[in-house]
Amino acid sequence: MSKDVKSIVRSLHFVYIMTLVLGSLIQFSEESEFVVDKSKTGLTHVPKDLPPQTKVLDVSQNYISELQLSDISFLSRLTVLRLSQNRMQCLDISVFKFNQDLEYLDLSHNRLQKILCHPIPNLKHLDLSFNDFEALPICKEFGNLTQLNFLGLSATKLQKLDLLPIAHLHLNCILLDLERYYVKENETESLQILNTKKLHLVFHPNSFFSVQVNILVKRVGCLQLDNIKLNDDNCQVFTTFLSELTQGPALLNFTLNHVETTWKCLAGVFQFLWPKPIEYLSIYNLTIVKSIDKEDFTYYKTTLKGLKIEHVTNRVFIFSQTALYTVFSEMNIRALTIADTPFIHMLCPQVPSTFKFLNFTQNVFTDSVFQNCKTLARLETLILQKNKLKDLFKIGLMTKDMLSLEILDVSSNSLDYDGQREHCIWAGSIVVLNLSSNILTDSVFRCLPPKVKVLDLHNNGIRSIPKDVARLEALQELNVASNSLARLPGCGTFSGLAILIIDYNSISNPSADFFQSCQKIRSLKAGNNPFQCTCELRDFMQSLGQVSSEVVEAWPDSYKCEYPESYKGTLLKDFHVSQLSCNTALLIVTIGVTGLVLALTVTGLCIYFDLPWYLRMLCQWTQTRRRARNVPLEELQRTLQFHAFISYSEHDSAWVKSELVPCLEKEDIRICLHERNFVPGKSIMENIINCIEKSYKSIFVLSPNFVQSEWCHYELYFAHHNLFHEGSDNLILILLDPIPQNSIPGKYHKLKALMAQRTYLEWPKEKSKHGLFWANIRAAFNIKIRLVTEEDDVET
Ligand SMILES: *[C@@H]1O[C@H](CO)[C@@H](O)[C@H](O)[C@H]1NC(C)=O
Repeated sequence: MSKDVKSIVRSLHFVYIMTLVLGSLIQFSEESEFVVDKSKTGLTHVPKDLPPQTKVLDVSQNYISELQLSDISFLSRLTVLRLSQNRMQCLDISVFKFNQDLEYLDLSHNRLQKILCHPIPNLKHLDLSFNDFEALPICKEFGNLTQLNFLGLSATKLQKLDLLPIAHLHLNCILLDLERYYVKENETESLQILNTKKLHLVFHPNSFFSVQVNILVKRVGCLQLDNIKLNDDNCQVFTTFLSELTQGPALLNFTLNHVETTWKCLAGVFQFLWPKPIEYLSIYNLTIVKSIDKEDFTYYKTTLKGLKIEHVTNRVFIFSQTALYTVFSEMNIRALTIADTPFIHMLCPQVPSTFKFLNFTQNVFTDSVFQNCKTLARLETLILQKNKLKDLFKIGLMTKDMLSLEILDVSSNSLDYDGQREHCIWAGSIVVLNLSSNILTDSVFRCLPPKVKVLDLHNNGIRSIPKDVARLEALQELNVASNSLARLPGCGTFSGLAILIIDYNSISNPSADFFQSCQKIRSLKAGNNPFQCTCELRDFMQSLGQVSSEVVEAWPDSYKCEYPESYKGTLLKDFHVSQLSCNTALLIVTIGVTGLVLALTVTGLCIYFDLPWYLRMLCQWTQTRRRARNVPLEELQRTLQFHAFISYSEHDSAWVKSELVPCLEKEDIRICLHERNFVPGKSIMENIINCIEKSYKSIFVLSPNFVQSEWCHYELYFAHHNLFHEGSDNLILILLDPIPQNSIPGKYHKLKALMAQRTYLEWPKEKSKHGLFWANIRAAFNIKIRLVTEEDDVET
């Protein structure tokens, strides 16, 4: 039962996983398959072979001049259609009647003169701008596009109530292109624009501004005008045009894009806008032409909070810098951005300034900017990114009287500090200092604002952080990425450090006590350093292991070994080196212990295999041999006193004495029995050897008892070696009782070997076979051998 449940659960699990996999596959194909991009493909018609599931169709920048019902009616799921930059002249909107999902329709930059109306209920974005309409292409059906939030239009003629049919819609943006609008003699047109948050008007890019239409706006919060070309003559036309537009109390953001003007006219426009209820004025892509002369500017009370001018081209080459900069420096607003301009300077305001935020990114300012400037006491943020600043000391000095300055960004300059000079002076209020992408070196740590909390020094030339510098106790975040630091600094001088970014440096062996020294650290980003994967690193890794994993940023992927070569590219996470190879004391102890164990093992083995016994035997035997070596071979033969030496176990002595000895002696075979022919005063060992040496042959009576007797083994050992020495076949083995092979102890290899190779004589149990047995024994003896008598022996 439970087995069934398990298998059901398992198969459900499988189905679930398969569903996930298939689901993701379908999603994947949905994204790629249902988007069809046929832009810039030279099409003259919408292709017929589109997949019917197509949701997004891009046929922009082609040569399509007409759209028919059959072209797209089968694309029932179409939501986005881009048809801009084609050659459409007329459009019957009813071609979309089967595209009920259509939300986005871009028909801009065609040659449309006429549209035939039809409701498309879900439309959100309808762009008919940059076409050839004479009057605004507004159908009464547009009034039903309740979802519409963007409407792009174009016309050469305007009538006040043209937009009435859509007056009740809540649009986000109306784009009205007036590129081809021309001034009519003796009449002033007007247009009422209702209910849009943003109005975007585009004029002809190359003609001087001449539009004299009265555009009445209500509730427009955001106004953008593109392509304004002004000179001293038509400047008035432009400000007149603006007067109605900028009336509305709702207007907060006013943007001008692509403006070409004289300085005089620009100042005039500023002057005109100053009392208007605008809060933020932005000018992008400004070109100043003709001349720049001093303009009188009255800084009326203004609601303007911020002025932003980005990307300025100056076509005036000889002019008074002061005339240009004074207009800006005296502005009574809070935020001023002048970015990406050829301006080389900005003046210190003459009276205490209202500026809280100044952004001069990407100009050509030098160190002389704002030197000795005491009127920027309210300034909180100063950005001088990407200029031509060189001397950090002077930058410090610049801030001296900026008593509210909190954020200073002087990144991407050529700042350096030669540490030889006097102490740096900084505004004590600075908490964020961005010094990144300069050419600063170690000495920068001797020239920092004392209360800085966030310090960005990335991408400089710092090699080490000096220890003997003033303490930066407030410092919380330090970015020293992309420098040449060789060591991970401790937090000695930055006791409050919480974030350290030190990736892309030259740190090979980060010290293990980093986390001990930096108790408050919350985030460490130290990847992409050339880590040396050795023992030192191991300690660091251990200390890493003790901190929470969120602390180490970009772990483990950007932490890789650089050396040694064999580990190059290995993730630190996967680098393991044993405790042993890193700890010398441990290594010595281990070697010692291993040696001891080895010695003990060898000793144990020696004892087990009875090695000392063999050594003793070898010693005895060599001594005896030495004694015997002095005697010549014939002499030795002549010293034979016995035909046979008999080795046997005490337990078998009954058989030996009752059967073997009588039987042999009957044949005149002289026997040496160690207990009978014992020479007093010699050791048992010597007696045995003596006996063996003086005997022609040795008889061994093998039985389980023999195997058990140690003496018998000695005897066998000597007899065997004697045999070797004499080179003759002098061993006779009699197997009295069968010996099971495995009953011979392992250490008696000799006996084992002999038993295996030798033919032994088996003592038959049957009496009838005894005769043959004895005959065999006798045959083994050469009776003719001359034996010396014991008396002779004594004589010699
Ligand atoms: C410092 O400026 C650089 C750009 O120059 C920017 O990427 C970085 O985020 C800034 N640092 C801080 C702390 O704001």
